[in-house]
Amino acid sequence: MKSRAWSVESGANDESNTEYAPRSTHHAPRVTGSTRLVGVIGWPVNHSRSPRMHNAAYAALGLDWAYVPLPVAPERVGDAVRGLGALGFAGANVTVPHKHAVIPFLDELTPIARAIGAVNTIVVRPDGSLLGDSTDGAGFMADLRTQTANCKSQTEARDLQFPSLQFVRVLVLGAGGAARSVVYALAETGATVAVVNRTLHKAQEICQTIGAALEVTAESAASAEGMKTSASSASSASSAVKTWHGEGRRSRLSAHPFPDALAGLAEAADLIINTTSLGLHAADPLPWDASVAFRPGQVVYDLIYNRPTELLARARSQGATALDGLGMLVHQGARSAALWTGKDADELAHLMREGLRTK
Ligand code: ATR
Repeated sequence: MKSRAWSVESGANDESNTEYAPRSTHHAPRVTGSTRLVGVIGWPVNHSRSPRMHNAAYAALGLDWAYVPLPVAPERVGDAVRGLGALGFAGANVTVPHKHAVIPFLDELTPIARAIGAVNTIVVRPDGSLLGDSTDGAGFMADLRTQTANCKSQTEARDLQFPSLQFVRVLVLGAGGAARSVVYALAETGATVAVVNRTLHKAQEICQTIGAALEVTAESAASAEGMKTSASSASSASSAVKTWHGEGRRSRLSAHPFPDALAGLAEAADLIINTTSLGLHAADPLPWDASVAFRPGQVVYDLIYNRPTELLARARSQGATALDGLGMLVHQGARSAALWTGKDADELAHLMREGLRTK
């Protein structure tokens, strides 16, 4: 499996960061034989900021827990995962490039981990069995809810009425691993989701897999109410879309080519989310069509948080609400820690954010 350029948790998103650069010793816990261990399995993991934010939260809660980076080469993934229980670990996070590779070594997967084919959290259960979960999507939704609740203007984010996003039209840019978590979480809320990707078949595959897992419908963008395509893009968009029918939920998923379909989808979108790796580096092209304007009332969320992106700068200058993905890192971590420690996820998130801020 190819290594991805971007990850919620990965060090790759930390490369050029200075504002949130981890300081390795400040939150180093005092470790004894009775300290509960958790950590992050990745390759590499030396830039991960998870140890810093987890250890800060555990210390603030008075927990005798320690979170350690666990660099594991690809050929040792099975040994590492199977050794967690024997070493007394309560669990582990998993980051690039192992999120998929750990799956064969786990005893059980949650429905979301199974549907998206990725695990970011392993829980060692009392009987020693290993549960694989993914908290990325829930972390994204928690951050979106928190950030939009804090929007000052009444016109900002006015259509985002949590927990249901049934009448919200979402444009997801990209169809890699990050998109899977986000699309799954959105599909659970009832949102109408258009996935736009340079490689169309990957967008189609995401819609098909998640649509089937959640029994939600993916249909032609041209016929989806509220997510109308313009005449110029309707033919390419509708020909690109397959339709699945499901029961019980109102969400609709559709796949479209980037950049051709953007102009037709952008105006009606309430929420636009960049899940591509474009923007990690200053020289990257926009994951967007520069001739297409954002508008007031739109929320633009960029999963990238290591640097201010051109996408968010444009969105802000054109009157839209611009949100970065640092909070997603925090909330996915908090949800992992809640699974291990039993503590409240929102309190953990608050403490983790404080831990990242602390110099
Ligand atoms: P991740 O798991 O981090 O999401 P990925 O699987 O490499 O990483 O996906 C990166 C996303 O960024 C993909 O949607 C990719 O588009 P393709 O599926 O067509 O490769 C998108 N992306 C990367 N570089 C791009 C570029 N120059 N133009 C448009 N999309 C790009």
